[in-house]
Amino acid sequence: MTGPAAPVVSAGEFLNSVVQALYARTRLPQGQRPERLGRLLVVESSRDAARILDEPELFAKNFALVAAFGPSRFNQNGAAWAALRPRTQRAYARAGRPVMLTEISAIYAAELAPATPDAPGIEAALARAALRIFFAAFDLRPDVTPFLAHFAALRQVVSDLQHMSWQGMGALDVDAIRARATAPLQSFTAACADQPAVMATVTRLAGLRPVIPVDAMMADFMTNMFAGIETTTASLAWMIDAMGRSAKVQDALRAEARDPSGEGALLQSFRDECLRMFSPIPFVVREVTADTRLGRHDLARRDLVLLSLVGLHRDPDSWTDPLAFHAARAEFAPGAPPNPAFRPFLSGPRVCGGRRIAEMELTAALRLLVSGFRFESPAADPAFSYALAFRPRFTSGHRVSRL
Ligand code: HEM
Repeated sequence: MTGPAAPVVSAGEFLNSVVQALYARTRLPQGQRPERLGRLLVVESSRDAARILDEPELFAKNFALVAAFGPSRFNQNGAAWAALRPRTQRAYARAGRPVMLTEISAIYAAELAPATPDAPGIEAALARAALRIFFAAFDLRPDVTPFLAHFAALRQVVSDLQHMSWQGMGALDVDAIRARATAPLQSFTAACADQPAVMATVTRLAGLRPVIPVDAMMADFMTNMFAGIETTTASLAWMIDAMGRSAKVQDALRAEARDPSGEGALLQSFRDECLRMFSPIPFVVREVTADTRLGRHDLARRDLVLLSLVGLHRDPDSWTDPLAFHAARAEFAPGAPPNPAFRPFLSGPRVCGGRRIAEMELTAALRLLVSGFRFESPAADPAFSYALAFRPRFTSGHRVSRL
């Protein structure tokens, strides 16, 4: 007997515990927080974060979960990343122009109108709208149902892959991870093949110089789609949960949302406060490519650092009353200077490629949600899940009614 067996922890539970640990450490005085989580140095000050984000060659993406689907702009560095990025970024730059807000609002309105007024019904409508907007960025208007059907399976695989990449990998593990990732990519490719316009777009993007194989572009396109939709719907789910916690805040938001001439200051502050408190990407991991110093730490090549957006967004040196939720937070008031510790989309060269689209989506969807529905949330903090994005789990205590 060597003692009791270690409890079997599923991939999902393991990842949730990482996020939980990041939240728990923000409740400790800074001097008492452990420097590392597992083998990763935790970074949560805005100065160190800026250094990491401004120097992506030195703090590079490592073999992370999404790499298993194939090379994509999410996991590549240097020239390989630069060759992939413009293929999708041109479409995002066009779709992120302010004039697109009207189309984005119309898509959310069309999906929310027939939605069943309960939490799963609203979540499904939001996911459909986000998917339609992703495709619209590429001038595509496919039937999104077959794509949506793959999301649950994709989420599970991503969660398993994250788990595996945390455990450390030998050569064998890499093969196991790649094998695990094959099925969702095949289903996605089949869904694209059924919709010729989508297939033609992926083929065209692959053909841009330098030409890459169509299946490599397929992996990049799928990762773009999944990352964009998961983060946007997770953010909106947190907003629904937060609205359901205060009838007073909800009424004030509703009054603003129904006044088209208003500047929407509370809506914007509430949106950003939700992104601050519940960042859909709670952390990112970077690998150091050369010996360097970060703050008071000497780092060696191949060291891993974990940039905690949870920590950054609750840094007592950067925020007043950082642990509390304030719908009308002073740091987000109109005219307040941008806070360098607010980085839900990161910053620097590897900033979120869909940031402008996402911001418009959140603004448009929040207005429609609060003007069309009433939300109630249970008093207890919601359970959450984290695979690619961090999202609350709705329960029967989350109630929705149409107004
Ligand atoms: C609220 C919604 C969103 C949030 C909070 C968010 C956040 C992020 C974050 C934190 C990253 C950096 C990940 C890392 O470096 O490890 C990222 C990357 C990215 N996001 Fe988003 N995202 C959102 C929505 C979207 C949407 C709607 C799209 C596309 C339509 C999109 C496309 C991308 C792309 C392409 C990258 C990779 C950028 C690169 O390295 O080239 N995101 N996002």
